[in-house]
Amino acid sequence: MYVSLQRQIGTTSSCRIPQVLTEARVGGRSGEILGLPFFVSFQVKSLSSFGFLLLSLLLYLIVFTTKSFTYQMKFFIDTANLAEIKEAHALGVLDGVTTNPSLMAKEGITGKNNIMSHYKAICDLVDGDVSAEVISTDFEGMVREGEELIEIDDKIVVKIPIIKDGVKALKYFSNKGIRTNCTLIFSAGQALLAAKAGATYVSPFIGRLDDISTDGVALIEQIVTIYRNYNYETQVLAASVRHPMHIMQCAEIGADVMTGPLSAILALLKHPLTDSGLEKFLADYQKGNQ
Ligand code: G3P
Repeated sequence: MYVSLQRQIGTTSSCRIPQVLTEARVGGRSGEILGLPFFVSFQVKSLSSFGFLLLSLLLYLIVFTTKSFTYQMKFFIDTANLAEIKEAHALGVLDGVTTNPSLMAKEGITGKNNIMSHYKAICDLVDGDVSAEVISTDFEGMVREGEELIEIDDKIVVKIPIIKDGVKALKYFSNKGIRTNCTLIFSAGQALLAAKAGATYVSPFIGRLDDISTDGVALIEQIVTIYRNYNYETQVLAASVRHPMHIMQCAEIGADVMTGPLSAILALLKHPLTDSGLEKFLADYQKGNQ
C-alpha cells in the first residue's frame, strides 16, 4: 500500500488553461483486501495549502491504519499431491496451491479429463488461489486452454510460460480480468515484461538458479525493487523454494508469496532447543504428577 501527493502545473479535461493541480494516489498490491479499488487516483483543482495538508493527513491515516492488512506474506504449496495439500491446509497457514505439468505427472495424473478433475479436487480442498498451467505454446492454444481451466473453479489462476505468445496471452487475460501466474521466470527483464502485460503473479525459480550457481534470492530482491519503483500490481511469487532458509530470505526482502514443498514449510517449525525444551517441560511435569 502506498500513497503519494503531488502539486504540479497541468490542465484538466474541463479546463485547458494550465493551473496548479494536486494529484493524490492511493494504491497497492493488497488494496483488494480492504475492499478498496486496487488503485485510486484523483486530481483536485486549486487546492489551498491547508486543504493540501488535510488531504495528506487523511491519506497517510488510511495507509497507517490499514498497514497490518497490507503486508502479509502468502504461503502456497507447490504440489499436486492431495494428502500434502490437506496436511498443509490443516495447519491453517495455507493461502493457495501451485502446480505444473511435472508435478501432475509425478502424481500419475494423465489425460485431459483426469487432469481437469484433479484441479477441481485441489480447489475443493483449499480456500486460496490454485495455479493450473497451460500446455500450449501458441497464443490461440493458451487462450483456449486458459478459458477452459477457469471454468473449473473461481480459484483457478492460469499459469503461462514467459515466451512471446505467453506475453500476448497474459495481456489478453489481464484485459478480461482473468488472473494469471507467469512462470519460468529466470531474469528481472522477464519479470518486467510480465508485469507490463498485466500478470497477477510472476514466478521466479529460486532453487533452479541456485542449482546453476546463481543467486536465486537476489533475483527475487531485484524484481521486488523494480515492481516497487513503479508500483506494479503484479505479485512476486518466489517459486522453486527448496528449504526454510529460502522462505526466510524471501520474507526478509518482501516477496509477496512463496511456494514450496510441504517439507520446507514444516522445516520452519524445527529447532533443537524447542525439542529439548519441550522434552524437559514434559519430564518435569511427569515428576510432579506421578
Ligand atoms: O512450480 C514451479 C517451481 O516451483 C518448480 O520447483 O523444485 O521443480 O525447481 P522445482
